[in-house]
Amino acid sequence: MNTKTNLSARHIMQHFSPDFQRSPAPKMYVFDCLDSTNTWLKDNGDCGVVCIAEQQTAGRGRRGRQWLSPRAENIYCSVKWCFEVTPEQLSLLSLVVGLSIAKALQKIGLTGHGVKWPNDIFWQGEKMGGILIEGISSNSSLHQQEVVIGFGLNVNMPKSSGETIDQPWVSLHHAMGDTLDRNQLLAFILEFLINDLQCFDRLDSKRFQHDWRYWDVLYGQNVLILQEQQERSGIVDGIDDQGRLAVKLMSGQLAYYTSAEIRLKK
Ligand code: BTN
Repeated sequence: MNTKTNLSARHIMQHFSPDFQRSPAPKMYVFDCLDSTNTWLKDNGDCGVVCIAEQQTAGRGRRGRQWLSPRAENIYCSVKWCFEVTPEQLSLLSLVVGLSIAKALQKIGLTGHGVKWPNDIFWQGEKMGGILIEGISSNSSLHQQEVVIGFGLNVNMPKSSGETIDQPWVSLHHAMGDTLDRNQLLAFILEFLINDLQCFDRLDSKRFQHDWRYWDVLYGQNVLILQEQQERSGIVDGIDDQGRLAVKLMSGQLAYYTSAEIRLKK
């Protein structure tokens, strides 16, 4: 496998399963360079369109952070998805996407990875990828809810390219000891993701809570919860049926978080 293999829609499609190849192919745009695949899809592309870039000059992460996006080393991809009726469990969407990616990583042979609430992909305590979901205000009466689902995954990025990243991170190359074919990996991710999105409005939230537990790297862990200048400690007790993080605080009280920064205690 060769790091220098460029991303292309044709190569990605070759890796779809026969079943998935029989269904209408997702429309994919592969760019050499964009500011951000999320930003591009906010202004362009129909529902179901996939946007991929070899490099991003203004890649965005959660909480206004920058997402380092050097050329031809990683995966930077976004999917525009439209729901005709706003799904009841929309708050679970980013968690569902996390599991789609985790399952694809398992399919390429990675072990020891999981999801860190709300939407980081982790491998042995270090961040391998992240998800940024943004809503679009829809002008069309056909769609109640349009979202852009963006994900970035560190694939073949060497330590020297990621020196400015301000948290512990890891690439798949390091985790697997091999250079990965990004076309194949993207095909696996897109297939899991699109299948999961197509079933999303029928998601059984209890069943999902159970599936989340399997991949949850925080479950039972001692964590620091940083929220609005406050710092608290507790032990993670999974998620509830709305995707909120459940934490047993030092006081014994169970608290639920919809947004907070969670750090694993050493
Ligand atoms: C995070 O963990 O903070 C989320 C990172 C999301 C990065 C991806 S890369 C593709 C898409 N385009 C962007 O500008 N951001 C997302």
